[in-house]
Amino acid sequence: MTVAAPAASAAAVIRAARAGGYALAAFNAVNLETAQAVVRAAEAQSAPVILQFSQNAARHGGLANLAALGRSLKAEASVPVLLHFDHAEDEAVALQALKLGFDGVMLEGDNPVTLRRLADAAHDAGGYFEAEYEVVVKGERSGERHDDPAQLAQFIQSSHCDLLAVDLGSAHKQESKNARLDFGRLERLADLTSLPLVLHGASSVPLDELARAAMLGVAKVNLATDLTAAFTRAVQRALDAGARDPRQYLGAGRGAMGARAEEYIRALGGAGQA
Ligand code: G3H
Ligand code: ZN
Repeated sequence: MTVAAPAASAAAVIRAARAGGYALAAFNAVNLETAQAVVRAAEAQSAPVILQFSQNAARHGGLANLAALGRSLKAEASVPVLLHFDHAEDEAVALQALKLGFDGVMLEGDNPVTLRRLADAAHDAGGYFEAEYEVVVKGERSGERHDDPAQLAQFIQSSHCDLLAVDLGSAHKQESKNARLDFGRLERLADLTSLPLVLHGASSVPLDELARAAMLGVAKVNLATDLTAAFTRAVQRALDAGARDPRQYLGAGRGAMGARAEEYIRALGGAGQA
């Protein structure tokens, strides 16, 4: 009788990506069909994946509802699905997400006491914590970058974080891929820490640059805008073609978003890593 090996911890799955020179796609979802698109794409590519809901999405769908949805899809998936709470704006909601079964949380802000407290709570729950070492901007670049190695070491030590979100030149909520990543900076950061690095605002970055970043230390790539756009375009096409049943047009959205998600999973080197 074969005994299934215990599932690796969520943090271990992400560390394996950093060590293996590939990245996990972390796709934002807001409802059933967008969450299913994420999991089905990962299954089609035999890849581990991060299904993430933001605090904004929780305001829309209810944190407990999204948590239940995520846990259910994770439980029945044939590949590792990490349930991540993205862009938490306050500690209390992030703690609630951990209680509701999220594997990991990201908290905006850089208060070392709050970050450490939440990181310790995540670790006590068997999960991981993503800290925002640098803020990835929305639109025009004005983000502050910290290039001092001692400051980086101090931040990692004081925050107890497991994942580090850094600014490499991307920008949030961009419909076009005009960003260019600073690979010299990425290599310096990857030399300074073995922690998995996180890239936010990846919709703004061309796929070939994302593929290169995944080989250089970025192990989690956050994607929302480009997937949502694919979903919405397909819904629009279905409505224009006369669909009036939500299963038809939301189903079309799910299929289109899944296809786009598979492209990202392949580009990041995650295909076949499950
Ligand atoms: O945390 C989520 C991401 O950073 C999404 O960024 O909408 O620019 O793809 P994006
Ligand atoms: Zn983000």
